[in-house]
Parts: sequence; structure tokens; C-alpha cells
Amino acid sequence: MKAAVYEGPRTVTVKDVPDAKIEHPCDIIVKITSTNICGSDLHMYEGRTDFETGRTLGHENLGQVVEVGPAVSKVKVGEYVVLPFNIACGFCKQCEQGLTNYCLTMQPEPTLAGAAYGFADMGPYQGGQAELLRVPYGDFNALRLGEDAAERQVDYVMLADIFPTGYHATEMADVKPGDQTIVYGAGPVGLMAAYSAVLRGAGRVWIADHHPDRLRVAEGIGVIPIDTTKENPVEVVKEATLGLGADNGCECVGYQAHDPQGHEDASLALNGLIDSVRFTGDIGVVGVFLPEDPGGAEAQGDLEAHGKVPIDFGLMWFKGQKIGTGQAPVKRYNRALRDLIAGGKAEPSFIVSHELSLDEAPSAYEHFDARDDGWTKVVLHPNGNP
Ligand SMILES: NC(=O)c1ccc[n+]([C@@H]2O[C@H](COP(=O)([O-])OP(=O)(O)OC[C@H]3O[C@@H](n4cnc5c(N)ncnc54)[C@H](O)[C@@H]3O)[C@@H](O)[C@H]2O)c1
Ligand SMILES: [Zn+2]
Ligand SMILES: [Zn+2]
Repeated sequence: MKAAVYEGPRTVTVKDVPDAKIEHPCDIIVKITSTNICGSDLHMYEGRTDFETGRTLGHENLGQVVEVGPAVSKVKVGEYVVLPFNIACGFCKQCEQGLTNYCLTMQPEPTLAGAAYGFADMGPYQGGQAELLRVPYGDFNALRLGEDAAERQVDYVMLADIFPTGYHATEMADVKPGDQTIVYGAGPVGLMAAYSAVLRGAGRVWIADHHPDRLRVAEGIGVIPIDTTKENPVEVVKEATLGLGADNGCECVGYQAHDPQGHEDASLALNGLIDSVRFTGDIGVVGVFLPEDPGGAEAQGDLEAHGKVPIDFGLMWFKGQKIGTGQAPVKRYNRALRDLIAGGKAEPSFIVSHELSLDEAPSAYEHFDARDDGWTKVVLHPNGNP
């Protein structure tokens, strides 16, 4: 089968790899019809993780079941399913509590937790930017879709990661009806966080970034854009809130945060949020931060290369704020968000700028990595256009 394989920093090639196959009685095999490129893939693409060369990327996957293992009882061949990027067992101490983002069974390293498809430090699993994908514990991990699945897959594929992840940011930030919410980062995740805040009934939502094309997409859903090349988000938000700040905020940038000129500083968005959010407000950090950053020393300095990010803890403590962090537990939200899509109440595909074939993955990575104008979100269709 064909797959998009990581060959080293800024090199992805599409080539033949062994077909995905059933390796355990609970596995299913999915023919991937939609698979997204994510901002998380870019950390790996740029060589800013210890992702191994020769592995297939892709953790935002949707497709049609083509084979089920002998112990699979719910999922049937022919059904369309969307797969949470977290691979989880359903029966470990963490999964029992709904913490599928930190499953203990699927992570082979006993001192770590959590697994994902085609992801650094999240187990040996291949990614879904390929014709076929092996899904462990298919009955637990696959979310089945209804009759409109094939037709609306560009909406449903957002359930694999960024829609639940954006929603999780607003959950950790405790966004409630009427709240004023500030989101840092208008990439796909930030746009989904802002969209989730709107869906949860926030009274006013701002989003800060230095890419005008991404800010325009946010404006389309009624979110107030803050162009950081022209304005300081802290001042904009305080000005609008009698100097107090937003009720809560979401960090959707991660450790490669930078100023509009491109100078990296992992604390930029975090400290912006601590300053922008009012006393006792909550902050949800879904942007990725890592304990080691192989490419970080030149870009961010030695401390940040070892995951030591200088945040304004004194101000945060003084304001009595809470910060939530980590990978999103996609399964906690994906069923409800699926039903919002099915019921016509949510249409997360508004962020999609490109639908391409698998063969176009190398150039799609280049454009998305450069944050080229108009490249907001790429969906690949490895088995032809739906
Ligand atoms: N926690 C999770 O489960 C989870 C899931 C998916 C993605 N992520 C992470 O979320 C982050 C965002 O993902 P994405 O797909 O939207 O990526 P992206 O890189 O496309 O978007 C990040 C955006 O942040 C902007 N930005 C950079 N520095 C900024 C600053 N100082 N202030 C404001 N904006 C700034 C960039 O211009 C860009 O538009 C990444 O770190 C990704 O790895 C986390
Ligand atoms: Zn992702
Ligand atoms: Zn588990």
C-alpha cells in the first residue's frame, strides 16, 4: 500500500510500505478515505521531536472498515468510522476513568502513558496518511458514523482530533454561556477552540495570530480577530473589559510560539494568556509542549530545549488562575460532537482549504509548514476523491 513516510527533517515521501494487517484479534483494518495534516505533524516534520525516520505519519483518520479481527463484535465491515488520534484499550486504570489520552496498555514504555497513530513517543503505531490503517481495539476506538458519512466526511474527519481538542481547550478553560474568551493561535486547533466557545454560548470570543488569512476564517464564524502584527492582544482584551481581562482563555500554539518576525519563545502565548485572563479565570493549554526539543536549542535557547519554559507563575498565582494541559481525551467528546454535526448544528469543515490526493502529501507538508497564505487545513484522500 502507499503511505506518506517521514524521511528526516522537512522530508516526506509517498512510497510503498507493507499492507496494514490484523495483528491481534481485536484489531480492525480501515481503508482511509480522509486523513488530515495536523500542526502536531509539523513538529515531527521539522525534526523537533524524536520521531523515527521510515514511519508513516497521520493521526486524524476516517475511513471504511474492510476487515475485522475474530474478537471484534460491534464494528462491521463496510461501516464508516472516525478514529480518535488517541489509541486506547478501554480497560486500564486510566481508560476506566475516561482518560484515554493517557492509556497505560497501548503505550509500550512502562514509564510513559498515552498512544497515537504515527506520533513521536506515543507507541510504535503507523499513521493513517496511507491507503490502510490498523486500528487496535476496534470496538472501543472506532466511532461509527451514519448514512451521511461518505458525503460529509470532511466534517466528520475533524472528530479524530482538532474539533474535540479545541472543545477540550474550552472545557479546561471552563467556557460558559455569556463568557468572554480569548484564544491564542488561529491555526486549525485555535479555530476549533474559538468555534467551540461560540457553540458553548460565549458572549464574545477573540482570537490572536499574525496570519491574516487565518484571522479572516475566524471572522467568518463571528470571532473577533486580533492581528498581532498590529495590536497587542492583552491590551485589546483589557480595553474591552474595564481592564479586568477575559473570563478565560485557550492556548492553541504550543512550544514553537514565536513573534510575528518568527523569533521563537515558548512562553509567549502562555504569558500573554496569564496577562489577558482575569483574576480566578481558567486557561486551557492544548498547544503541545515537550520535555525535550531536539531542534530547540538554536531556536529557543538551551532551557527550552529541555522543556523548561519561563512562565509568569508569580502573576498567575497572584491572580488565582488554573491552567489545564495535555493531549485531549478525544473519546470524551467525539460522540456528542458527531451528533452536533449530524444534526446540522456544527460544520467544522469551514476551516478546510485543500482536499488533495496522497501523492500530493509532500508538497502539502511544505505549504502547510510554511503557513503559506490560504493553507489553513489540508485533508488528504488516499483512496481517491469521495
Ligand atoms: N493537546 C492536543 O491533544 C493537541 C491536538 C492537536 C494539536 N495540538 C497542538 O496544538 C497546536 C496548534 O495546532 P494547529 O494544528 O492549529 O497548528 P498550527 O501550527 O497550524 O497553528 C498554530 C498557530 O499559532 C500561531 N502562533 C504562533 N505564535 C503565536 C503567538 N505568539 N501568538 C499567537 N499565535 C501564534 C501560528 O501563526 C499558527 O497560526 C500545536 O502545538 C499542535 O501540536 C494539540
Ligand atoms: Zn492532530
Ligand atoms: Zn487504557
